[in-house]
Parts: sequence; C-alpha cells; structure tokens
Amino acid sequence: MALLEIKKAGAPVLKQVCTPIHKIDTKLKKLLDDMAETMYEANGVGLAAPQVGVPIRMVVIDVGSGLVELLNPVITEREGSDVDSEGCLSVPNIFGDVERAAKVTVEYMNRNGKIRQLTAEKLLARCIQHELDHLDGTLFIDIAKSLRREESK
Ligand code: CO
Repeated sequence: MALLEIKKAGAPVLKQVCTPIHKIDTKLKKLLDDMAETMYEANGVGLAAPQVGVPIRMVVIDVGSGLVELLNPVITEREGSDVDSEGCLSVPNIFGDVERAAKVTVEYMNRNGKIRQLTAEKLLARCIQHELDHLDGTLFIDIAKSLRREESK
C-alpha cells in the first residue's frame, strides 16, 4: 500500500463532478486500499477519491465502526435533519456547522461489484453525506452555516 497526497481546497479536482465507475480491476482495488491507508494515517473519518486527485465516484469511511467502501454511492432516502460541526482533510484547520439529514440510506456497489444498501444515523450518516458531496464538487465550506479556524495541536 502507499500513502497518497491529499489535495487541498483550491485544487480544481475538488470542484469536479466525478465520473461513475464502470470497471473494477486490481488498479481500482489498490486505490481503495491506498485511500483507506491515507485516511487512517491522516486521522480522518472519510476520504473521497477526488481528494487524492482521482475524479471517480468512490469513497472510504471509518467513523470507528469499521471500514466502509462505497462505489457509485447514491442516497436513496433521507430523514430528519441535524446540525453539527464538520472538518475536512482537504480544508485543514477550518471547522463549520453543517445541516445534514439525520438518517440516510445509501445504495452503492462494493469492491466485488455487488449492489448493497446501508442505512446510517449520527456520525456515519453525516460522513456519508459529506463524502458524497465531494463526488459532486461540493466542499463543506461551500454549505456551512458558519466557519471557524482552529489550529491543530
Ligand atoms: Co471532506
């Protein structure tokens, strides 16, 4: 595995609408592995492919309950709403309050090409919505109600 460079806000790839995945091959699986390693190394809870410079519809997430890999994810149900603080590995030291659905169901393809569904609440639901926004070129700073700077320790 290898660590990947995380693109920072201002990089054009972060504003792109990403393309769907049509073919799962060893190169794509290696990218998934490298994205997970990069996310863990950076102490993040999610990472989208455009954040490592690859504009395809794929994200990895781990909010502490195990690694989730979502290929071509689509949110099919949203319920409730909730405002909480978010940050992003592509926007270091900036945090902001973002309104998200409280509960979402996402349909996606796993790394074996099987279609799966996941229903999530709380932090996982928030993270899914944040990462999926990346696939359409939206950063949390574009939609946050307020932003603040906090230097990391
Ligand atoms: Co992000």
